[in-house]
Amino acid sequence: MSQTSSENKTDLSPTNGASKVAVLADDDNSRTVSKSVFQNIAQGLSGRLLVLTIVFVMIAEVLIFVPSVANFRNVWLQNHLDTAETASIVYLDGADFMLSEKAQGDLLKATQSLSVSISEGSVKRLMASSPTVGMVGERVTLGVMQPFESLKSSLSTLFFGGERIYQVSGPMKSRDSQIMLVQEDKYLRAALLNYARNILLISLVISLITAGLVFLALYWLIVRPIIKLSSNMDAFSQNPENASLVYQPTGRGDEIGVAEDRLASLQKDLQTTLRQKQHLAELGLAVSKINHDLRNILASALLFSDRLAGIADPTVQRFAPKLVKTIDRAVEYTRSVLDYGKAKESPPQLRIHKLHQVIADVGETLNVEQQANFEWKNEVPKDLEILCDSEQIFRVVLNLGRNAVQAMETDDASSLVKQLTVSSAIQGDHLELRISDTGPGIPVVQQPKLFEAFQGSTKSGSTGLGLAIAAELINAHGGKIILERSDQRGSTFMIILPYQKN
Ligand SMILES: Nc1ncnc2c1ncn2[C@@H]1O[C@H](COP(=O)(O)OP(=O)(O)OP(=O)(O)O)[C@@H](O)[C@H]1O
Ligand SMILES: [Mg+2]
Repeated sequence: MSQTSSENKTDLSPTNGASKVAVLADDDNSRTVSKSVFQNIAQGLSGRLLVLTIVFVMIAEVLIFVPSVANFRNVWLQNHLDTAETASIVYLDGADFMLSEKAQGDLLKATQSLSVSISEGSVKRLMASSPTVGMVGERVTLGVMQPFESLKSSLSTLFFGGERIYQVSGPMKSRDSQIMLVQEDKYLRAALLNYARNILLISLVISLITAGLVFLALYWLIVRPIIKLSSNMDAFSQNPENASLVYQPTGRGDEIGVAEDRLASLQKDLQTTLRQKQHLAELGLAVSKINHDLRNILASALLFSDRLAGIADPTVQRFAPKLVKTIDRAVEYTRSVLDYGKAKESPPQLRIHKLHQVIADVGETLNVEQQANFEWKNEVPKDLEILCDSEQIFRVVLNLGRNAVQAMETDDASSLVKQLTVSSAIQGDHLELRISDTGPGIPVVQQPKLFEAFQGSTKSGSTGLGLAIAAELINAHGGKIILERSDQRGSTFMIILPYQKN
């Protein structure tokens, strides 16, 4: 069958905000649709930032605009009063005559007023007046009005005015008199509207420029690094073992720099863990294979050792049962290794055992008594009984003992004291079992990870599992194992086990 595109349906989830690509597949074919840049900006962080910046700048402009309207109105009214004063002042000293009709018309036109009057003390002089003045609503005295009232009045004119008449008055600058204008508010309103329109336009331009600059700055400082981080996460998650995909921090000192450092160290840790896991999996496979064949070999060895037991020679009679027991034990291990597929030790089968005997078995298996220079001391009281899984405790002490022997074997000076001592002490509800040697001690750098699988070992050809297995078995017993002391005089491991006196 020929491969059609539908067989290769791929869901490429968006990799980053800047270039999201989605592959849509239907029954017959798949279609690639590139989302437009605008859509991406609108949906992404950058778009939201852009809109928010515009909105915030507009709000700021409105907050500035409202008081400035009141100010504009006051200035507008003051300008008209000043114009009226300048025009009237020429006639003021001319005593009692009235302005000609034309002059009155010009004055009213210049000041956009219905009437202009001046009061000096109790004398009020009407400078100019149109035939019909109408009902005066509001009376405004410049310089006396409070800011809030002025604001209210300006907004009222802006939104509801146009057909109202008001009177505005203020002190004259040239003499100690008041000048008064009666005006239709349509001129003031038109000026206010014009001012508002200009402010709105300027606000818009300022908003757009500010928003653009803020957007660019934020895009450059935040959005772009985030896109870079997320696309690296995507690429890394597809192939976490590829060391070249570990993020290279840019060395920034801010929060994004911290996130970059964290991501890089997380990825490195993950790669180390993956390598360990792979190591474990390979080891598991190798162990299973070896174990499989080893079991067959041990089965034959068991058969031969059974045969040996039948030989009357006293030396053979002495060693044959030990040999059978040891091979039996090995067969049992190979079985439990197969169980190890579960990645956990089986729970301890607790029975009451004589601890001295379990330790003695370890001594025999280590064969230390037979070696020159080695001194083996089993100081556990012969009658000490403890509830435990003797096989597991045997394995634990054997691992510790073998480590000690291996450590002491490295020193070949014949004058060296090579002593391996196992002792016990009961402390209330627990038992302390100490395995001490006179070896060279464990380097301090090695100590923190001593009980972690594959971490503590420095010896070539060893797996670095012994202490990890020991710790796991003792934990399952409800106890713990610690390195009590380690220096040039030797090391002491202490196993703490729950203890109940019978
Ligand atoms: N009594 C000791 N004296 C000196 N070094 C020790 C002693 N016990 C453990 N060590 C050090 O701790 C390391 C870890 O021991 P562990 O038993 O976990 O692994 P291993 O002996 O290297 O390998 P394995 O036991 O799996 O074959 C050893 O390689 C050794 O360097
Ligand atoms: Mg070991």
